[in-house]
Amino acid sequence: MSLEIFNALEHQKTDSRFTLAQAINSGIKNWDSSIGIYAGDAQSYRTFSLLFDPIICEYHGFSKDKNHKPDISPLMLPSLDPEKKYIKSTRVRVARNLEGFSFPCHISLSQRRKLEKKIISALDRLKDDLKGKYYSFEPIDEKELKQLKKENLWFQKGDRFQDAAGINSDFPKCRGVFHSFDKRFMVWVNEEDHLRVIGLERTSDISSVYNRLSRALSALNQSLAFSRDETYGYLTSCPTNIGTSMRAGVHIQLEKLEQNKDLLHGIVKGYNLQIRGTGGEKTKVENAMFDISNRQRLGISESKIIQNLHAGLLAIIKAEKNLGTP
Ligand code: ARG
Repeated sequence: MSLEIFNALEHQKTDSRFTLAQAINSGIKNWDSSIGIYAGDAQSYRTFSLLFDPIICEYHGFSKDKNHKPDISPLMLPSLDPEKKYIKSTRVRVARNLEGFSFPCHISLSQRRKLEKKIISALDRLKDDLKGKYYSFEPIDEKELKQLKKENLWFQKGDRFQDAAGINSDFPKCRGVFHSFDKRFMVWVNEEDHLRVIGLERTSDISSVYNRLSRALSALNQSLAFSRDETYGYLTSCPTNIGTSMRAGVHIQLEKLEQNKDLLHGIVKGYNLQIRGTGGEKTKVENAMFDISNRQRLGISESKIIQNLHAGLLAIIKAEKNLGTP
């Protein structure tokens, strides 16, 4: 941030009194941040646009004169790896924040409580295969928690980046996880965003996971108003997530490509994907199990993200197979 921008924003506040100092605290405390800023409410994107816009432009390759057009219509894509030789699971998530509430790094306990109640009652109204149960983290039955952990159906307290932003305040109060009885659909409540809405399957059927998520979102949208901006799409705590707020990815075993990282990185870059470690963000790849997902979330539609991921994974699997044949 240049001194000029700092001087222009230093004394600015949003209506909910979110300041520049709060927006940049995580980056100041964590010099190894890649982005380092968080929004405390929807208005932060306008009040601090001098700071946010260039970061958004660099990360998403998006400028305000471009258009962000959503399209979350269902898709039918051929199965990628029906024998589960490479792809072990598929997960598609989006983030949502509700209109009229500050974002998680800047919300009071009483507001967080009100928000949790509102979300639970919306989740209660879900029907058919989306029906399920909400597990509050306070208090949580030890046995229940162990089971949720075992099946990866929970989230932990935020990392040092989220902590410095203020996202962990009052943890585990008003936090919890909802999952459908068939465990293919899940919602995190009050983690980095008010909601993280997630579809997951232990298959490579990306369209099935995505279509379920899209159905769930329109059902939830009947009782919840999501924070959205004409240019920037869905607004999230972290500017890397705005737009579609979608991260669609797989856990994929790539024994050969693990030995040929340049080739893998070349394909990943070509399809604008990203690699994360086996345990998620900022973790290492273990036993050649890669987490591969879309990188861009703004200036691209939801359905295009899925199609692009599908094409990228086809190319990756082809390369892995080719390396296998002498
Ligand atoms: N604030 C962290 C950084 O700048 C994380 C950025 C993206 N991840 C996220 N969970 N929002 O490195």
